[in-house]
Amino acid sequence: MRKIAPSILAADFLNLGKDVEFVNGNADIFHLDVMDGTFVPNLSFGFPVIEAIASKATKPLDVHLMIVHPEKYIDRFAKVGASMISFHLEAAMRDGSNPNKIIDQIHSHGVKAGLAINPDVPVEELFQYLDDVDFVLLMSVFAGFGGQKFIPDTLERVKTVKDEITRLGLPTLIEVDGGVDCENCDALSEAGVDLFVAGSTVFKAEDRVATVKRLRGE
Ligand code: DX5
Ligand code: ZN
Repeated sequence: MRKIAPSILAADFLNLGKDVEFVNGNADIFHLDVMDGTFVPNLSFGFPVIEAIASKATKPLDVHLMIVHPEKYIDRFAKVGASMISFHLEAAMRDGSNPNKIIDQIHSHGVKAGLAINPDVPVEELFQYLDDVDFVLLMSVFAGFGGQKFIPDTLERVKTVKDEITRLGLPTLIEVDGGVDCENCDALSEAGVDLFVAGSTVFKAEDRVATVKRLRGE
């Protein structure tokens, strides 16, 4: 079954409690984008906001780290209640860190680990980690900003990763993030996506409840 993860980046920060209730009542996962202004050219939010969300959330928190040196903060994100934490392979490469060490660090807290890549990273670079992570996050826009246009190549990239997961007989899930909407969600699902991150599509919709149902394929 498709899982819908509204991205809080597109929520109404003046009425965040209401949007948290919306996700609790209508969606599956909270997607929380953490940006550092270095790995991506933007800043988002950090611990105070995520703690506030965690205090009211009844659905799992999925923390997407778009930061250099993710290992510095993983323990704190686990402590504030993350159920899933992903970091970028490019960030680990840039830092000279071993991705497997970071994956182990996430797992040491009983948290699900995800490896993310931007659209310009060959998906084959994920293959050696498919057995180590719980999910992979394929960006369908370049990480850093909400509200960008979906990159159609993503469909082929998802299929390639899905084929490899199937070939290896692994339970690894595929998450897609960026520009996901009511037009591309069915094709993404057919290609093999399990977890659908959607920011603007959900929070800017006139009928949010119907939009989440549509994304679910209902
Ligand atoms: C982008 C973030 C996304 C973003 C998605 O760097 O990782 O999660 O919030 O927003 P939409 O769905 O509006 O493209
Ligand atoms: Zn994200």
